[in-house]
Amino acid sequence: MLKLAWLTDVHLNFVEPDEVLAFWASVAAAEPDAVLIGGDIAEGSDISHHLRQMASVLDRPIYFVLGNHDFYRSSIRGVRAEVAELAQTDARLTYLTASDFVSLSSGIALAGHDGWGDGRAGDFFSSTVMLNDYFLIEEISRLPWDQRLQRLNALGDQAAEHAWKVLPRALAEHGRAIFLTHVPPFREACWHQGELSDDEWAPHFCCIALGEALKTIMQQSPERHLTVLCGHTHSSGEAQILPNLSVLTGGARYRFPAVQKILEWER
Ligand SMILES: [Fe+2]
Ligand SMILES: [Fe+2]
Repeated sequence: MLKLAWLTDVHLNFVEPDEVLAFWASVAAAEPDAVLIGGDIAEGSDISHHLRQMASVLDRPIYFVLGNHDFYRSSIRGVRAEVAELAQTDARLTYLTASDFVSLSSGIALAGHDGWGDGRAGDFFSSTVMLNDYFLIEEISRLPWDQRLQRLNALGDQAAEHAWKVLPRALAEHGRAIFLTHVPPFREACWHQGELSDDEWAPHFCCIALGEALKTIMQQSPERHLTVLCGHTHSSGEAQILPNLSVLTGGARYRFPAVQKILEWER
């Protein structure tokens, strides 16, 4: 069996240093073959510190993407470049947004991308939701709404392009694939406080461009299976988008990092 520990939205910047170490020890105690982390790990200034520390404490393959909080007080371009460079220097760390798909076993492939709430679900221009993203992330702050929407659209498009680049090849070689991302790529997976997000929240909580890509790719490979792992909304749920496409959305509470789920599959 292949044993994977899936984590999302651990927000370690809100956790005391000794509690962070205790948390990593608890993850290691589960003895997973690999750890998957779906973003919102920390913030722009301490993300590299936490990645280095988790690699040294866990000492096993760690596959991750970044979430919106990981860019706070910094820029998307800067943090992505810094983290991609760090992952190049440590064989235990793989930043999936900057990587090809990975063969976890002969039957299971892993791919992923940060994704982004791309403004396409719900009603963007009527939404009164002001995420801290729009104050704390260089590329999408201090912008008129129409320009901000263009940037959000483009960030969603990047995730879709990446899926098209890596996933069809992963599925050609494996019966099953996992796609790790931060933002739910379907409205049906966009849980918020136990319900599906309304039109106010959905523009910021859903990566529609990625979902359209994943759905088309899986319609073209009906004999393959895809499991999407996402987070961001801090409210858990499951959605079956197609017979061969299911989505797990992870829940989270600030200051209480947890293993979302231990996933076990036949290799
Ligand atoms: Fe989060
Ligand atoms: Fe998030």
